[in-house]
Amino acid sequence: MALLGNKKEKTYDTGDLKVPVSLGVIMDGNGRWATNRHLPRSAGHKVGAENLKELCRNCVRYGVKYLTVYAFSTENWARPQPEVDFLMKLFVELFDKYDEELAEEGIRVRFTGDDSELPKKVRDVCKTAEERSKNRPNMQLIVALNYGGRREILNSCRQIAEKVKAGEIEPSDITEKMLSDNMYLPDVPDPELIIRPSGEMRLSNFLLWESAYSEFWVSDTLWPDFGYEDLTQAFRDFASRDRRFGGLSKKESKT
Ligand code: FPP
Repeated sequence: MALLGNKKEKTYDTGDLKVPVSLGVIMDGNGRWATNRHLPRSAGHKVGAENLKELCRNCVRYGVKYLTVYAFSTENWARPQPEVDFLMKLFVELFDKYDEELAEEGIRVRFTGDDSELPKKVRDVCKTAEERSKNRPNMQLIVALNYGGRREILNSCRQIAEKVKAGEIEPSDITEKMLSDNMYLPDVPDPELIIRPSGEMRLSNFLLWESAYSEFWVSDTLWPDFGYEDLTQAFRDFASRDRRFGGLSKKESKT
């Protein structure tokens, strides 16, 4: 399949690449990007947010169907209050500002995380963004906002515990599928690939349950500089990964 490039002459030929249906991206490195340029950290977040649009465009053209991005973790409240306030303001501004472009790309927006702790303004903007985009067909952009993998698992356990308490099920009836079905967005497939820019090799509480068999791809590029070339390289490397899911590779199982 060879798709025509956009106006910057990018090509989206997937010949030697493997494009995941479901992709996760940890948008890390905004602070370092800004500090390297003697700018305030907020400048890095602004450019990082602009770069999310670029990622979305590239993912749609490559044919990714679900893109989950880590925007704010349950631990990020520990940052200095002005930085937290700046990020919250950014979320409020951007989902309105970006809507036209997201609509042009046919991108549906959804949120995952514990919204009960978010400011009302942010919750309202998220709700509107979800509502007005719900019929868009090309890709789902899932924004992890006040998201923590441990909290998501805890939440799932609590919901199941309620069923046990009500006498609807026995503890021995609890299955992995039941836990999966009680995660925040059970209809979203587990990410086949998780990309982390900025060189850190950790998950930082991102999609803990869903990433059991995800492939990881780490680059030294800081998130605001992460572009088409990096994404393409990630998909190229993904094509050569041997995903065995605890079994044997196709070649080995024939011998
Ligand atoms: C991590 O970099 C980045 C964040 C905690 C914020 C991510 C948010 C954005 C990119 C904006 C997204 C906008 C929308 C509309 C969803 P860091 O600050 O931890 O960087 P550092 O590790 O270099 O300090």
